[in-house]
Parts: sequence; structure tokens; C-alpha cells
Amino acid sequence: MIDSCGRDITYLRLSVTDRCNLRCVYCMGDDPLPLAHSEVLRIEELVRISRCFIRLGIRKLRITGGEPLVRKGIMELFDQLGEEVALGRLAELTMTTNGLRLAEVAGRLRAAGLRRVNVSLDTLDPGLFRRITRWGEVERVIDGIAAAKDAGLQVKINVVLQKGVNEDGLDALIAWAGAQGHDMTLIEAMPLGSLAGLRADQFLSVEKMRKDLASRWTLLPCDHRTDGPASFYRVAETGGRLGFIAAISQCFCAACNRVRMTCTGGVSWCLGQESSLELRDLIRSTEDDGPMERALLAGVAAKPAGHRFAVGIAGAACSDGQRSRMNRMGG
Ligand code: GTP
Ligand code: 5AD
Ligand code: SF4
Repeated sequence: MIDSCGRDITYLRLSVTDRCNLRCVYCMGDDPLPLAHSEVLRIEELVRISRCFIRLGIRKLRITGGEPLVRKGIMELFDQLGEEVALGRLAELTMTTNGLRLAEVAGRLRAAGLRRVNVSLDTLDPGLFRRITRWGEVERVIDGIAAAKDAGLQVKINVVLQKGVNEDGLDALIAWAGAQGHDMTLIEAMPLGSLAGLRADQFLSVEKMRKDLASRWTLLPCDHRTDGPASFYRVAETGGRLGFIAAISQCFCAACNRVRMTCTGGVSWCLGQESSLELRDLIRSTEDDGPMERALLAGVAAKPAGHRFAVGIAGAACSDGQRSRMNRMGG
């Protein structure tokens, strides 16, 4: 799938549920109504659509949510998609998770063909973690990460930069991740979900953070790439890798290789846009994959050149769709 800017789309982010066992303040808002089960694609439908994407050139598939590990039948999905890895049709099957249920399933994930997972963890401080997630226990996440490592999975820790909230804990996170051998990425908050109205004075760029960290840590150039949006450095003091995801301040859209699908079958060619192609009714109306393939090939041409996220533009109110988008679109 090549878009009109010549970008080859090889990375699918597949959201398997809008539900989550946490309520991070920047993500889902107070109490969003979960989607009805009938609206959400069944596991076999997710497999069918994934296989179609793979036939069209997807090589990396990341399962997202909500929280993927609260989705009923999720291990069946991993097993089936793992077969695509075993058969050499998919180069990487992976997941982004909050880590709460990781300890229960780490071994099975590895057996299904996963080699690494990304875990959201904005702070190591138990009180602050609870405030950010509303009721999460950071120890459970840390145990989940340890279990993933023991099972042979590589771990990347995702930290969303929240000005005046978790900045002070970054040194502790860097030291811990480095000592454990986990990669870590610092992510600029994007004006999505509950952050849709993000003000300029609430925004912290990764560049500013990198300069600040460079006064205490030696950040060496590093050519590590994941096919995702992060640029990595090596932290000399820990030996660990530290990545920066500058979605706003240094937009990486020109090199975008990604497409997303929500758990209701909405295909979105850019994180900054609502779904522009609905596959659910299409696949429920026929067993023939031809119409879905044609719709995807036609749709990719319209992938936007980039997002138009604006931070601090007064009145740049977001639609309800955008508000619910992080847990439906999976980031
Ligand atoms: P790797 O495969 O490890 O590189 O993962 P990844 O960074 O692609 O995925 P992850 O789910 O860990 O996402 C990390 C952050 O990058 C999240 O905040 C995502 O929302 C953000 N992100 C991922 N892809 C894109 C993208 O295409 N555009 C934008 N703006 N942000 C993205
Ligand atoms: N901006 C940037 N990243 C976000 N995430 C959730 N909401 C936002 C936001 N508004 C991150 C999560 C998770 C990843 C998929 O996206 O922390 O690690
Ligand atoms: Fe759940 Fe992830 Fe949103 Fe946190 S960021 S509430 S873990 S979906």
C-alpha cells in the first residue's frame, strides 16, 4: 500500500478494545461509555482483516487498545497472528499495554511469537502513578515487566511527558530502565483524548527535556531504529537506550509507515484524523475479501501528508470523536 506521498505502509496498529482497567487522566476522561459488544469486531474478524492487511504489505502489527489484555479471547488472537510470523508473512507481532496483566500472560505471549512489548509507565512513584491512572498499583506493572523480561520479551517503557507532573521522576525512570535493560521512550503529549485542549503552557517538548537531561546524563548518538517514530540515544551511565518521540515539535509524518484500525473496524490513515473507512459492515456482508482489499487500496491514496495537531490554539476545541480517540485508536 503506497500512498500519494510515496510512503509505503507496512505497520498496522490494531486496537482490539476501547476498554481499559485504568483511567489515565490524559487518555479516557472520567467515565466513558464502553462500546456495545456487537459493535466490536470478533476475534475471527480481527484475524480476517489482519490477514488481508498482511496480503497488502503489512509487515509489523502492533496490538493496542484500550488495554489489549482485558479483551476476551486476546490470546486466541495472538496465537492466530503468531502463525503469520511463523510462516514468515509478518516480520513482527507486538503489543502496547499498561502491564497490569502482563505477569499472567508473558510466557504465552512469547510462545505465540512476540519478541518485545511496549509498556506505558509514566512514573515509578506509587502515589503519583495512582493519581495519573486513578487507581493503578505501580508494583503490579513493575512485576508484569519483570515477568515479561523473564519470559524472554524485550521491553520498551513509554513515558508521556506531563509538565509539572512527572518531569521530576524521569531520572529515577532512566536509572531503573537502564539497570533492568529496558529501552525507554519519552513521548510528547499530543492534543488527543482528555488532552485535546492542551495549552502551550502545559506542553513540554522532548527537545527541552533532552537538553535538561543532557546536563545530568551523557546521551550518545545511537542508530537503533524500530520502524516506529522514536529517535534513540545511548545513556552512557546506564548503557540503556533512551528514545524521544517528538510528535509535535519535530513532526515525523514525512516518514510515516503507519495505518490504524479501531476495534469497530474503522481504518484511520493518520492519528490526527477520524476513521475514513469502515470495514465492519463490509466484511459482515460478504465472505469475499475482494471488496475489503479494494477499499484499502483505494483508501491509502488519501493518507494525509501529516497531522495538524496544534497545541495552545485558543478555541481549537476537539470533536467527541477526538476525545474518545486515544482509547479507541490506541495511540
Ligand atoms: P516501536 O515499535 O517500539 O517503535 O513502537 P511505537 O513507538 O511505534 O508504538 P507505541 O505504541 O509504543 O507508541 C509510542 C508513542 O508513539 C505513543 O504515544 C503513540 O501515540 C505515538 N505514535 C506511534 N505512532 C505514531 C504516529 O504515526 N504518529 C504520531 N503522531 N504518534 C505516533
Ligand atoms: N499523547 C501522547 N501519548 C499518549 N499516550 C496516551 N495518550 C497520549 C497522548 N495524549 C500513549 C500511552 C501509550 C501509547 C500507546 O500512547 O501512554 O503508551
Ligand atoms: Fe488505559 Fe492506556 Fe488510556 Fe492509560 S493510556 S487509560 S492504560 S488506554
